[in-house]
Amino acid sequence: KHRVGVLISGRGSNMAALVAAARDPACPYEVAVVASDKADAAGLAHAAANGIPVFVGPPGKIAREASFDAIFRANGVDTIALAGYMRLLSDEFVARWRGSIVNIHPSLLPAYKGLDTHARAIAAGDAHGGCSVHVVTEELDGGAVLGQARVPILPGDTPDALAERVLAAEHLLYPKVLAEFVTR
Ligand code: GAR
Repeated sequence: KHRVGVLISGRGSNMAALVAAARDPACPYEVAVVASDKADAAGLAHAAANGIPVFVGPPGKIAREASFDAIFRANGVDTIALAGYMRLLSDEFVARWRGSIVNIHPSLLPAYKGLDTHARAIAAGDAHGGCSVHVVTEELDGGAVLGQARVPILPGDTPDALAERVLAAEHLLYPKVLAEFVTR
């Protein structure tokens, strides 16, 4: 099976969705290792409880990325999936893994790159929000879009309410698109 290394910073619900999908024998990937920049990321406990090796990177961008690179190579990782990893990867890291890093972003890209996507979509009066899985390049949230899911924005929606609705769509989209990506 194709080996996926997941990078998280927090809750890790998208990582958990990838892990759950990978339990299906027909899934073309397995989650080989979960790494975080934050020792207290809640997702680490979930991964460990599922028997997946977990790793926390050290402080400092250069040291952290060198450790991620080493841990992914040591675990035979083919593809890196960012799942709520809230730091920008350096150009050097992206170049080393070029074409092999994907991310899930909570907007219908190219709309609303960066942060606070749901508040911005509501403030703009958009009828829909959503999520996108894309290839990671040096440009923030700018790589080729691999798949998207569209979610209605309802009257009176708060950013939190919209985020929750979009998150449910993320959990369906990411495993599906990752499976397509690794068998492309
Ligand atoms: C998700 O909504 C993901 O799309 C978003 O953070 C959340 C992480 O949740 N990612 C970004 O904003 C990336 N810039 P999770 O930790 O439960 O998967």
